[in-house]
Amino acid sequence: MALQDPRAGPGAGENVLPAGSLSSGPLRDRLEFLRGFLRHPAQVGSVVPSSHRLEQRLVRSAAIAQARTVVELGPGTGGTTAAMLQAMPATARLLAVELDPNFHQHLQQQLDDPRLLLELGSAERLADFLAARRLPAPDAIVSGIPFSTMPPEVSDRIAAVIAQVLRPGGRFVAYQVRAHVADYASRYLGAPDKRWEVVNIPPVRVFTWVKPGDPSQAA
Ligand SMILES: C[S@@+](CC[C@H](N)C(=O)[O-])C[C@H]1O[C@@H](n2cnc3c(N)ncnc32)[C@H](O)[C@@H]1O
Repeated sequence: MALQDPRAGPGAGENVLPAGSLSSGPLRDRLEFLRGFLRHPAQVGSVVPSSHRLEQRLVRSAAIAQARTVVELGPGTGGTTAAMLQAMPATARLLAVELDPNFHQHLQQQLDDPRLLLELGSAERLADFLAARRLPAPDAIVSGIPFSTMPPEVSDRIAAVIAQVLRPGGRFVAYQVRAHVADYASRYLGAPDKRWEVVNIPPVRVFTWVKPGDPSQAA
């Protein structure tokens, strides 16, 4: 079945929910996100999901339209996930790894797309998740997980596994309020491109790394 963007309205023939219903749609996503933040503020790192402008910036920075295998770390309530599914080729795959069981269950209920593979657990286990799904080296990895609040050894393990599994020439895109992710990922991937996305609550930095070694870029 085609992607159901949780923010899109119902199509012809679909059930129409009563006005103000919380069963689907952005208000329900926002409340679910806020509940997640109240449960684990440091782990979620924000009180509202990413803005549409940030979602579109991530899609462009990670070259999602050209990717065949995409990984998302920390999909939350699925706004960024839906934006990437919308931009991805029909034959691509998106592996989304979420630590919070409530968010994971919410994603299972809200996003119905055969290209989407959901895993519950820490991004530290990314190599195992890719192997279990028999996925090739990702072309793009997009992450919203808060590197500034995780224990340093966890942040380092996640940065190392990202660099290890990404294909040469692949992109790692991280959106963060603080710059800690750059310290960890630059050890493995070199210097990133840095931008601000100010149309977001709060404004965030968007870091983009391209893994060295793409044979098509050789002189
Ligand atoms: C800032 S939210 C981003 C949510 C969503 N992608 C968005 O932009 O609206 C960060 C997300 O990362 C998840 N997270 C935090 N640590 C994680 C980890 N080690 N592995 C996987 N997900 C993690 C949180 O549970 C939360 O859903």
